[in-house]
Amino acid sequence: MSDGDYDYLIKFLALGDSGVGKTSFLYQYTDGKFNSKFITTVGIDFREKRVVYKSSGQMEPQAGDRGFTFNCGTLRDRRGFGSFLNVRNWISQLQMHAYCESPDIVLCGNKCDLEEQRTVKEEEAQELAEKYGIPYFETSAAGGLNVGRAVEVLLDLIMKRMERCVDKSWMPDSTLRSNGHSANEKLPEEATPEKSKCSC
Ligand code: GTP
Ligand code: MG
Repeated sequence: MSDGDYDYLIKFLALGDSGVGKTSFLYQYTDGKFNSKFITTVGIDFREKRVVYKSSGQMEPQAGDRGFTFNCGTLRDRRGFGSFLNVRNWISQLQMHAYCESPDIVLCGNKCDLEEQRTVKEEEAQELAEKYGIPYFETSAAGGLNVGRAVEVLLDLIMKRMERCVDKSWMPDSTLRSNGHSANEKLPEEATPEKSKCSC
């Protein structure tokens, strides 16, 4: 498979307070590596990963994986509770600036390997996620727990949204815009069907 040989290019965004583990999550996901040294990100971290998507959150990594980025807020260690409270702010920022009113989100409670420093109970985080109607995962960028799973579920949400958009484009519905998307359900701008010639 050559570099340009893919159907969709999807960009994920990681949101959360400084130090919660966004960069570490990303590198764990793309390279399976973890660095315990804290080097705050200046600018952006960007990685790519190539996957074969199967419906319902199953993905098969391809030989020659290259990496990409993902999304979430997080909640642990000495900074834990403050960063947990800030998840609400991150989500409202996202809702304000995202491609639609209800962007696809998964919430990650990272650093779950640091059990002795836990300041946020799993039930509290779960409750918050339920309030927003989004999936929640306890993750460890250090050990890799649930890192791949969280991204799989997020990708599944995005692909399902795209499927719904494609389905609607066949419906003769005057509420749909001329390109086939309803005003409330836009495609992520970054989810570019590169090769599929999809009407999105
Ligand atoms: P900014 O770039 O400042 O926004 O921070 P960040 O969210 O990218 O955090 P980063 O990934 O740099 O991680 C901050 C520190 O937490 C580093 O020392 C990481 O090694 C550590 N860390 C990140 N994730 C985990 C984890 O799951 N478990 C443990 N034990 N440490 C982690
Ligand atoms: Mg970072």
